[in-house]
Amino acid sequence: MTHTFDFDGRTIPFTPGQSIGAALVAAGIRAWRTTRAGDRPRGLFCGIGVCFDCLIEVDDVPNQRACLVPATAGMRVRAQEGTGRGHLAV
Ligand code: FES
Repeated sequence: MTHTFDFDGRTIPFTPGQSIGAALVAAGIRAWRTTRAGDRPRGLFCGIGVCFDCLIEVDDVPNQRACLVPATAGMRVRAQEGTGRGHLAV
């Protein structure tokens, strides 16, 4: 049985126990965030929860570390821009 989650409309397969970041990289996706200054692409860097380069939105909660959050079936994951609070802007 293949486990999947949604990333910006794409179906991403994963192995149970795999992090969101690992699943995205395995699917060929290397960047899912842009920096607050300069809109530079970011993805995994340290891979152990230290650098915060891998911030991502998971089930409408921004600023989750993709390298630490385990992938679960049916979760909705979105790329994050800047602080991840754009949807709260007025
Ligand atoms: S890759 Fe460094 S905190 Fe996730």
